[in-house]
Amino acid sequence: MYPALSSSGSSGSSGSGGPILGPALTLGVVLLAGWSAESFAAPLDSASDKDDTPVVHTPQGDVVGVLSTSASGNKFMAFYGIPYAKPPTGDLRFKDPQPADKWEGVLAARREGHMCMQPTSPMKRFAYVMQKMAGLAKTLGRLPNVGRFAAKHMTQMSENCLFLNVYVPGIDSEVMLQESPPETPMPVLVFIHGGAFFMGSSDSMMYGADYLMDKGVVVVTLNYRLGPLGFLTTNSTDAPGNAGIKDQRLAMRWVRDNIRAFGGDPDRVTIYGESAGSYSVHMHVLSPGSKGLFRAAIMSSSMGPNFYGFRGDGSALSMRLAEALGADPDTAMDPAKRVKFLQGVPVRTLYDKMMSAVIQEKDLRTLSPVFPWALVPEPQDSEDPVLTRHPNDIMRDSSFNRVPIMVGLNDKEGSLLVPREEQRTRRTPKSRTLEY
Ligand SMILES: *[C@@H]1O[C@H](CO)[C@@H](O)[C@H](O)[C@H]1NC(C)=O
Repeated sequence: MYPALSSSGSSGSSGSGGPILGPALTLGVVLLAGWSAESFAAPLDSASDKDDTPVVHTPQGDVVGVLSTSASGNKFMAFYGIPYAKPPTGDLRFKDPQPADKWEGVLAARREGHMCMQPTSPMKRFAYVMQKMAGLAKTLGRLPNVGRFAAKHMTQMSENCLFLNVYVPGIDSEVMLQESPPETPMPVLVFIHGGAFFMGSSDSMMYGADYLMDKGVVVVTLNYRLGPLGFLTTNSTDAPGNAGIKDQRLAMRWVRDNIRAFGGDPDRVTIYGESAGSYSVHMHVLSPGSKGLFRAAIMSSSMGPNFYGFRGDGSALSMRLAEALGADPDTAMDPAKRVKFLQGVPVRTLYDKMMSAVIQEKDLRTLSPVFPWALVPEPQDSEDPVLTRHPNDIMRDSSFNRVPIMVGLNDKEGSLLVPREEQRTRRTPKSRTLEY
């Protein structure tokens, strides 16, 4: 099983200052080893007979997981890689997510699902953009586990990535084997990862529940589509936009319908996100379509009125992308033809162009190019929109979902943006002005 942050003897988080393999080096090793996303087994293996972990009966189908141990030595069950949506591939690329089919037999939820597509092979260009961000890439390389995380993930990417993980505390096999969930359901925490809407995943190496499992809460972490696959729009129903946020919402609907079987209380769901995940949480607070799916929200390090989460010119981006990939002007201009064309582009080619095609030279001086794929106001006739108006307008007229919220950030979180030199000399960094 995958090691979590707290396990194993390496304890890289202690700040001992030991050398940490930089992501660039790790990525290089992985690239040399070759791309092998398709060689990974599909998560729907049938459970083997010799396992005696309890079967959980969900409305979607039966599931078995893995027995694990929390940071304090308490037992918990982890269920990895549960599909909550149909694979968003082929004709479903760029479209609203569709609920997953039910399955027959027992789903062995024992390995994490694929992470969603994100930039890799255009690593040079990506690194170039990152360099512009005041040493962020270097800093990332010094963070514990990031190299390992990147290496693992680069080999496990797929367009078929809409999976979630469920962690259930304090339940030993015996209780679960009684084949009914506990009588008093536990509160549920749904965590949405960050990554500027084009990176990241719910992987337990970064977002394991080893500590939360000591707190009596059921934890759900989820993947959602990133970059163009999650945020491309034509400003029409062909690709209305915000698909990645709709993925999150579909996962929240999955929680509403299935979490009781895992001992969770669907009426006591808190959504919690960090960075772009935090921004996403705020969007669910603002979205009429997410109403009732949660009763509280935690936003860590981002919310509505910021510069990167929302943009008005999304359809221009999809046009530029289509042109960069060789669409003729007629195809690039017409929303329906544009979407058909882009659905036919191999996903890796799409990602090779997804940054370069939409980033303009002047953008490189600011932070804005790093977030080219973001939320948009959806067209009025969008079937199940996240937002059809600007978040600021919804905040202004107070027409949002009224739930308790907690907003904040973590101590020294901004040190990601502090250049290495300044970190080394421990000078207090001067405040930086970013143009955008
Ligand atoms: C999207 O389409 C609507 C309706 O045609 C239009 O009013 C709006 O300006 C368009 N938005 C963008 C960003 O092109």
